[in-house]
Amino acid sequence: MSNRICLITGANSGIGFVTARELSRQGMDVIMVCRNAAKGELARNEIKAVARGKVDLLTADLASQESVVKLAQQVRAAYPRLDVLVNNAGLILQQAEYSPEGFENTFAINHLGTFLLTNLLLDSLRRSDEPRVVTVSSDAHKWGKWDLNDVARPKNYSPLVAYANSKLANILFANELARRNANWGLASNSLHPGAVRTNFGAGVGSGFVAWIFNLARPLFLTAEQGAQTSIYLAGSPEVKGVSGKYFVKKMPKTPSRDAQSETNARQLWEKSVEWTRLEERQRA
Ligand SMILES: NC(=O)c1ccc[n+]([C@@H]2O[C@H](COP(=O)([O-])OP(=O)(O)OC[C@H]3O[C@@H](n4cnc5c(N)ncnc54)[C@H](OP(=O)(O)O)[C@@H]3O)[C@@H](O)[C@H]2O)c1
Repeated sequence: MSNRICLITGANSGIGFVTARELSRQGMDVIMVCRNAAKGELARNEIKAVARGKVDLLTADLASQESVVKLAQQVRAAYPRLDVLVNNAGLILQQAEYSPEGFENTFAINHLGTFLLTNLLLDSLRRSDEPRVVTVSSDAHKWGKWDLNDVARPKNYSPLVAYANSKLANILFANELARRNANWGLASNSLHPGAVRTNFGAGVGSGFVAWIFNLARPLFLTAEQGAQTSIYLAGSPEVKGVSGKYFVKKMPKTPSRDAQSETNARQLWEKSVEWTRLEERQRA
């Protein structure tokens, strides 16, 4: 039987790198998606040293919808199917920055890029006999202030609130994806990896968030520890058929009330279809 094929975004660093390396060590064919080709190539060489499957590298910037569309086209053209999609790439930004389509970049990268990529790869996932989508969220989602009219272009930018809202969006998205695709067997789950010592937060140079980060960093998990729940949800037979759940330390946990809301999830999905021009892009 051929190897399972797994695509991981943000696979050159931190949790995504360890997830890619360990799934590759388990024998999956891994497609690494990185925004920087040079960093991606270095990481790929490291993974290839322990790989039991193929290790490919594609470059894409999840902030740019055009780049995501191109990435999905490349995946559809090069691979017969996709078995596992790990939506891992994500960041927090000190200052508001805007995507080519005019969305605040934390939301554009952490949610909209993930939403668009997943939807454009659904046909590839449909060809798998056991398709899984794993979305890396965070317990920081609990600090979100959910207002669908403000999340994509916040009037008053706060790094922490923008990040928390994007991670809340990750859970709402993963749950709605599970509900909409249960009829053909797609399993979609989200997770909190723990507080992990990675490059995450490197762009947050000053202020309260930076202070907390520097203070707490020595207590953080290693990337190896932080990747465990992603690896589990992507590959373990124990979670076969489990869908629509939020995991912490490999156990289902109840997320915040806002994150559980089916209304929030449906409304976010409908707006995200508009914000990404999904229907037009699916027809193209
Ligand atoms: N570390 C924690 O304590 C923690 C806690 C909860 C949740 N998380 C979540 O865990 C996930 C992985 O983060 P990490 O801790 O492993 O951080 P990391 O070491 O900074 O890795 C993040 C990855 O995402 C990539 N990325 C960022 N922006 C991108 C874009 N526009 N297009 C494509 N790729 C992009 C990065 O690429 P570059 O290397 O080129 O920047 C990097 O590969 C994130 O979703 C984060 O929100 C982390």
